[in-house]
Amino acid sequence: MIADLAFFLKQAVLQPKQTSSIVPSSRHLARAVARVVGPDTGKVVEFGPGTGRITDAILERGVRPQDLTLFEMNVDFAEALRQKYPLVTTHVCGAQMVADHMEADVGAVISGLPLLSMPRPLRRAIVKGAFSVLRRGGLFVQFTYGAKPPLSPDALTELGLRFRPIEKVWRNFPPAQVYVLTRQAD
Ligand SMILES: C[S@@+](CC[C@H](N)C(=O)[O-])C[C@H]1O[C@@H](n2cnc3c(N)ncnc32)[C@H](O)[C@@H]1O
Repeated sequence: MIADLAFFLKQAVLQPKQTSSIVPSSRHLARAVARVVGPDTGKVVEFGPGTGRITDAILERGVRPQDLTLFEMNVDFAEALRQKYPLVTTHVCGAQMVADHMEADVGAVISGLPLLSMPRPLRRAIVKGAFSVLRRGGLFVQFTYGAKPPLSPDALTELGLRFRPIEKVWRNFPPAQVYVLTRQAD
């Protein structure tokens, strides 16, 4: 636990923009975002797992490690994730590359990315990529700090998506709002 915190802090110092936080998500936030998945979800993708706080919560929900695929840009995090979860597939690349690695049969994408601190085109590319691999009825889960939802109304309309807030998690630093994005057509 302490080792995880120190490792995360080190990466936050080395890669401040990418990491975008000095501490991992709390277990309360991790459980809140993982609540939408279970053994029947099928394939699950996680973006930006860091030290694996949300990964643990996804696996605790009964998702089989073989059904979980991680996209982590930071090489040091990715190497540690491969050692910690040998049965989970870890890609060391940007989440925006998801369509190069997955078929369009994913049940849920769970994002731990600092989406709102990313440039708009990247933010859109990541969400668009996620929906290109999500099957019909698939869910994209994202949390944000503060009151802003993960995408602007314009971007939502352009991508044919809608969002709903599902839970406010106060026991996190800082407090976070969890959202689920779905296709308008579903
Ligand atoms: C705020 S940290 C969150 C870590 C973890 N999900 C948590 O909640 O504790 C953001 C993570 O996203 C990763 N990341 C940033 N940009 C990324 C991208 N485009 N694709 C994949 N991972 C990215 C960072 O390396 C870091 O691990």
